[in-house]
Amino acid sequence: MRLVILDDYDKTSEWAAKYVRNRMLDFKPGPDKYFVLGLPTGGTPKGMYKKLVEFYKQGVLSFKYVKTFNMDEYVNIPRDHPESYHSFMWDNLFKHIDILPENVHILDGNATDLDKECREYEEKITAAGGIELFIGGIGPDGHIAFNEPGSSLVSRTRVKSLTKDTIIANARFFGGDESKVPTESLTVGVGTVMDAREVMIIVTGANKAFALYKAVEEGVNHMWTVSAFQQHRRAIIICDEDATLELRVKTVKYFKGLMPVHNKLAADDDLSEVQRQKKK
Ligand code: F6R
Repeated sequence: MRLVILDDYDKTSEWAAKYVRNRMLDFKPGPDKYFVLGLPTGGTPKGMYKKLVEFYKQGVLSFKYVKTFNMDEYVNIPRDHPESYHSFMWDNLFKHIDILPENVHILDGNATDLDKECREYEEKITAAGGIELFIGGIGPDGHIAFNEPGSSLVSRTRVKSLTKDTIIANARFFGGDESKVPTESLTVGVGTVMDAREVMIIVTGANKAFALYKAVEEGVNHMWTVSAFQQHRRAIIICDEDATLELRVKTVKYFKGLMPVHNKLAADDDLSEVQRQKKK
């Protein structure tokens, strides 16, 4: 597992966006080769999405040959509700870029048969050739997508009830009113994310420090579902200084010492290549 430590939220967002940019440019998506992205919502990825939109506007990135699968969606929230994950994704990313609506996939929490919706979501991911890069955030309790503590580490897309902790954490998006937060969600499983060819998790803020410690320094445990990625062959966690507060000094020193190596992964070199191609 790689652990990339940046100064603060803005630096973390920028690094994450550059990493995604470079992965997409290296992949060279085209009509016969779509880049398939798994995506999260929430406060954490907003800065990265903003940066990706900038890259699109600068002509550095195109999303024409990108397919996306979001991690989760609330059950029983109108699709056009400002806090639905549909609204979040269109407001923060999709409406600003050249992605084709038919290539966007978000679970339908209003489907009449929720189990069928979940089954079909897995089938759509398989039909798309699997996920190349699954990006995620984590909750303070270490949940990945809505795989709350105790979720099976081989779970697939399904209906999940949110824990009290998650409802409290997400009340900030509903005017601080816990009673307005939906209590159920549709979510990809830990196994669904594990199947991605690469997993990238963004962790920022002191309130995620204990979860990061559990993810990096303790064993794989279904009470901290993010810890499952210790067993992924290509997992990268991108975090800020505040999120490292519970890590051992020697862990932090080791990974910081690797920054010159890691920074190559988010370098701007590829960019000059793109600009050269455009000038031809
Ligand atoms: C969002 C999701 C959640 C969030 C997590 C952190 O699609 O699946 O796991 O990533 O709850 O949320 P924020 O970023 O708001 O702290």
